[in-house]
Amino acid sequence: MDLHEAMRCAPTSRRFKPDPVPREMLLRALESARFAPSGGNRQGWRVVVVQDAERRVALRGLYLPRWRAYTELTGAAAMLADPASFDAARVRMVQRADDYASNLHEVPVHLILGVRLEDLAVTDAHLPRQSIVGGASIYPFAQNLLLALRAEGLGAAMTTLLVPAEAEVRRLLGIPEEVALAAHIGVGYREDPWPGRLSRRPVQEFAFSERYGEPLL
Ligand SMILES: Cc1cc2nc3c(=O)[nH]c(=O)nc-3n(C[C@H](O)[C@H](O)[C@H](O)COP(=O)(O)O)c2cc1C
Repeated sequence: MDLHEAMRCAPTSRRFKPDPVPREMLLRALESARFAPSGGNRQGWRVVVVQDAERRVALRGLYLPRWRAYTELTGAAAMLADPASFDAARVRMVQRADDYASNLHEVPVHLILGVRLEDLAVTDAHLPRQSIVGGASIYPFAQNLLLALRAEGLGAAMTTLLVPAEAEVRRLLGIPEEVALAAHIGVGYREDPWPGRLSRRPVQEFAFSERYGEPLL
């Protein structure tokens, strides 16, 4: 698959066929993803591949209450309760995310992404705002993985709602204390056709020339 095509058409997949995913496909994706950059080339990423039915049920048990709390907090729950009063496309997305949470145990593969905290160079740790840089040594790997899965013809959904359940996920999967949870990626064969085009803002809205706000185009 052409790189640009993969980048432009790697949507979040939330509905999957029940078919199991061959381990070779996952290995090929991980094999390419590992060439991601990281601070000092420390490569602190760690991945647990979960396919066992009972563990998938346990992951759903941890995910679902956090999703429900999130929908209450963001107003998504109100949207689901009264869909006619909201933008139809937005309601569709929230509905899909809600179904994804309810059916999480049926997602064939769960990739639990962690990162060794001692491998992170957090250069903004002392700024008087929340730190962003720690993630910069794990999320390029996550995006590489999403693109590699796309190239395999596999759908994927990256979410972060399991991260607050880090302690429980650690216990469930035997992840050591020094590894922090970064993301959860559900993987499988996509149920729906691949979309032709994703909804994203145009370049002129976020890229500038020389000074912030000056048009690049
Ligand atoms: C950090 C992060 C957190 C996300 N969390 C959720 C989530 O909790 N539930 C969900 O269904 N999708 C989640 N997503 C997927 C986004 O909703 C998705 O990337 C966005 O709506 C664009 O969708 P598209 O690529 O299909 O166009 C998350 C994505 C990212 C990068």
